[in-house]
Amino acid sequence: MASRAPLFLLVICFCCCSGHAKSFIKVVCDTTITGQVAHQSMLTCKVETTQEIPDLNIAVVVWKKPGDDQFLSALDRRPDKKNKFPPGYKVTLNDRTVSLVITDPKVKDEGVYSCLVMTDSGNAETTTYFKVTAKYEAPSVDSIDEKVVPNAHKSLICKATGGYPLGKLRWFDDKNTEWTKSAEPTIVNQTEDGLLEISSKLPLMKLSTSDEYICVVYNASDGKEGSAKIRTDDPDYDPSIQNPSKTSLSAIIAPVLVIGSLIVGLLLALLICRRRSQQQNRRPSTAPLMGTHDMVPNTDQVIDPPPPYCEEFKDNMA
Ligand SMILES: *[C@@H]1O[C@H](CO)[C@@H](O)[C@H](O)[C@H]1NC(C)=O
Ligand SMILES: *[C@@H]1O[C@H](CO)[C@@H](O)[C@H](O)[C@H]1NC(C)=O
Repeated sequence: MASRAPLFLLVICFCCCSGHAKSFIKVVCDTTITGQVAHQSMLTCKVETTQEIPDLNIAVVVWKKPGDDQFLSALDRRPDKKNKFPPGYKVTLNDRTVSLVITDPKVKDEGVYSCLVMTDSGNAETTTYFKVTAKYEAPSVDSIDEKVVPNAHKSLICKATGGYPLGKLRWFDDKNTEWTKSAEPTIVNQTEDGLLEISSKLPLMKLSTSDEYICVVYNASDGKEGSAKIRTDDPDYDPSIQNPSKTSLSAIIAPVLVIGSLIVGLLLALLICRRRSQQQNRRPSTAPLMGTHDMVPNTDQVIDPPPPYCEEFKDNMA
């Protein structure tokens, strides 16, 4: 803080004097400089002269953010001056190019910046606008039961976070027909770091025809940044999870069924054979048979022999 005091005096002095001294220099910046959140940015301006000054000596460069009335960072090249930049904002000077390096831009860094240059041939100041952007993360879509919107049984909710400035969410079905007009107005939230969360709700009518919807997130200049699909027939549809488990389940069930029915069949066959051979041993020829055989009036071992496979089967089991 202590190092700022002389600088403020200097700036005040500049303000007072600049009206009197005719300056031969000017600072030229782009009107808008765009940077990305969390990607180092550089605001760069050039010092130009209205007449030839071969050995122009740039003594001081001061960057400020006037909107916040905020001193930012300064480079003082006069003898015996030590420069200590505040964290995140560094001033550089390369020949006649002056820059402010913002190492980790945030949404709050957006705004007007002024660059003041003091030389031995006069002073000049100009402004530039630093525009901050951040890419939205891939959106997420969920399906909820709809209880508020009349005639709708379900609603799809699409949400995209971490972007800046305000983008758009649009809805399409699997035939690329747009449904954005049927969606409710987009809800916008700003998180503490200034980034935006946008969400859109698309109510689905009972007769809605598509079983797949796509939510697409666009940035402020209509560039597509990401999309997400949802199937409405099966809201939990997730091809990466469901397909393998389905196949592995049927791979287990099929052999179990086959082996199980084989075992049951074998047991039944064994039971029938046992019963048949017991009946052959015990049964008097006049005794009625059980079950359907009750209907057979005259049962005889000759008419009703054990099926041949029974003998084979008994041999195999022995
Ligand atoms: C916005 O904030 C509200 C209340 O904090 C929350 O219910 C809603 O889910 C948020 N919306 C988004 C898009 O995050
Ligand atoms: C929007 O996206 C397009 C394409 O990716 C990109 O060129 C443009 O810089 C982005 N604009 C903003 C404001 O993020």
